[in-house]
Amino acid sequence: MSDETNIIDDVYEHVPGMILKTLGKWFHEKARDCMSPIVEIGSCAGLSSICLGLGSRDGHRVTVYCVDPFNGGGATPEEGYVNVGVSLPQWQDNISRYGLQDICKPIAEYSENAHKKYSGGPISLLFIDGDHTYKYVKMDIELWTPHLKKDGILLLHDAGFPGVQQATEELIADNPGWRKQDFYWIKR
Ligand SMILES: C[S@@+](CC[C@H](N)C(=O)[O-])C[C@H]1O[C@@H](n2cnc3c(N)ncnc32)[C@H](O)[C@@H]1O
Repeated sequence: MSDETNIIDDVYEHVPGMILKTLGKWFHEKARDCMSPIVEIGSCAGLSSICLGLGSRDGHRVTVYCVDPFNGGGATPEEGYVNVGVSLPQWQDNISRYGLQDICKPIAEYSENAHKKYSGGPISLLFIDGDHTYKYVKMDIELWTPHLKKDGILLLHDAGFPGVQQATEELIADNPGWRKQDFYWIKR
């Protein structure tokens, strides 16, 4: 077993979160190839942030911008989410455990406000995992995908959730500006 597999296993033992380990490993692999910033909307306790950050550190050390109000909200109870109650210090503790403070940068705001503050330039990989209701997924797509560079990767988590599915079908699926690859999208 490689060291990188071991470290992702370690992350999954110590950091709570909502992404499958196969996705965590995929993040690690894809982030290693990124040559410009990564943005994730919805960081929670930092599981996805850390997998992306570890990949970036093994690669080109690009910044992973981690957008979340860190106010203890757990997204959308009506769609089955638990309130995980994560604060910024909790996220920071988890990031520090893996020494990723220089790579994973929090933007402790709702996505729409974070977008106004973002000045990181063209994005290589955009991971949308914030509020899963249609209105907010649509907003995240509209606000953030213009920053994604050509050939950049867009991943919408929980693609089968009604809000995520509707926004994806309306804005991405039949749009010639995008092509699907496996479970993610590439900007043309
Ligand atoms: C499904 S969790 C994210 C899980 C995380 N990616 C992981 O690896 O475990 C959703 C997160 O989105 C955040 N959130 C909800 N609405 C948001 C918004 N409008 N902008 C940014 N983050 C939001 C919540 O605070 C919550 O931490």
